[in-house]
Amino acid sequence: MAYRCIAVALTVVALWIGLPAAAEPYVWDLPPWVPEPVVPADNPMSFAKVELGRYLFYDRRLSANQSLSCASCHQQALGFTDGKARSPGVDGEVGVRSAMALANVAYLPVLTWANPAQRRLETQMLVPLFGDNPVELGMMGKEPELFQRLAVDPLYRRLFRRAFPEQQGRITLATVARAIACFERTLLSFNSPYDRYKHGGDADAISESAKRGEDLFYGERLECSHCHGGFNFTDNVQHAKMRFPEVAFHNTGLYNVDGRGAYPPDNPGVRAVTADADDEGKFRAPSLRNIAVTAPYMHDGSIATLEDVIRHHYALKGLAVFNGAQPSPLRDQFIEGFDISDDEVADLVGFLTSLTDDRFLKDPRFADPWDTRRSSTP
Ligand code: HEC
Ligand code: HEC
Repeated sequence: MAYRCIAVALTVVALWIGLPAAAEPYVWDLPPWVPEPVVPADNPMSFAKVELGRYLFYDRRLSANQSLSCASCHQQALGFTDGKARSPGVDGEVGVRSAMALANVAYLPVLTWANPAQRRLETQMLVPLFGDNPVELGMMGKEPELFQRLAVDPLYRRLFRRAFPEQQGRITLATVARAIACFERTLLSFNSPYDRYKHGGDADAISESAKRGEDLFYGERLECSHCHGGFNFTDNVQHAKMRFPEVAFHNTGLYNVDGRGAYPPDNPGVRAVTADADDEGKFRAPSLRNIAVTAPYMHDGSIATLEDVIRHHYALKGLAVFNGAQPSPLRDQFIEGFDISDDEVADLVGFLTSLTDDRFLKDPRFADPWDTRRSSTP
């Protein structure tokens, strides 16, 4: 009791002389077999920032005509994707890429489908907020209006003060971005049936078919785990116990429009950023967690089902074969093609489906906070 009084007194003094109040230490909600993510030194985690970030992520005031929020394209029930091949922004214009899942983004050393330079959540979100190719939230040139919209809401004044006491709760691009990034880092998905089977000692958590699919996935014939391995089912990973992040981009032979491996010119992958011909058609291997709920697939949403990804893409050395062209000469050495029976396709899909984490897809901590406020206020 006495300690509590002293702590309260110190906090009051700290606030009075303008020092940041001692924040509640942040505790990650992780199973023991998962290492902690890397957090940038200038944006430490706090519960107050996470809470604020969640309100902002779901707030349509973040778009020019107040019609879209981050969550419009990143919906929880769909693993934070939107079920569309490509998503319209505030002007109805669609871009060339499919919205990505956000589970475990805290572990990604590079963000988005094919940009080696996009390395921080705090800066990635400036693309949907202010980008014009395509226009998504459409806020370029409207920063003062954005901060004004938020500042008139007493709820935000309170949340910003709590999240950024050292900045007197100022509403700026930096505080908005840091809060959303903190929320995104809490989107952790490690409770699928496969996790319970593999790490939780529950031998019956997945079906016999999914177990056969697991063998196929990790086997030499299909080679899936070369690019989709590790605890997050991708070869792009960083965490607190790694000295250097692992970063990789691959050409899976999805396109071969000229017989020499070219991709459509408006969507050539990493080459669009580096202008290096060796980067033609290279994309990041996405995590396969919750993959059964994030259709359609690939960077442009061009494949509708997991069966087709396996049968008409990987089994045939890339879709180019399916399209009547030759397999791409630029495809990765692990895209060799394979024979696969109908039963084996079903087993592999069974394994991929065992990566669906229902608790994550329904977790109230990640849901729209404006919904609960609306339903609890008569
Ligand atoms: C109009 C749809 C749309 C909106 C709105 C949108 N996004 Fe996205 N998001 C996308 C698309 C498309 C991609 C893939 C972009 C690419 O590869 O070029 C993406 C990618 C991402 C990624 C990278 C994920 C990964 O695995 O690397 C993050 C993080 C992200 N968005 C967060 C946000 C946040 C935060 C907001 C709100 C400020 C937001 N998005 C608003 C469509 C959208
Ligand atoms: C050489 C590396 C590599 C190998 C091997 C590989 N993948 Fe992929 N995978 C990728 C890349 C890169 C993408 C994204 C390609 C794109 O969008 O153009 C991808 C995309 C996917 C997608 C769609 C993901 C999404 O979010 O849309 C699925 C599903 C998938 N792979 C499953 C598999 C399976 C199953 C195997 C084994 C049969 C496999 N992959 C083998 C690199 C690989």
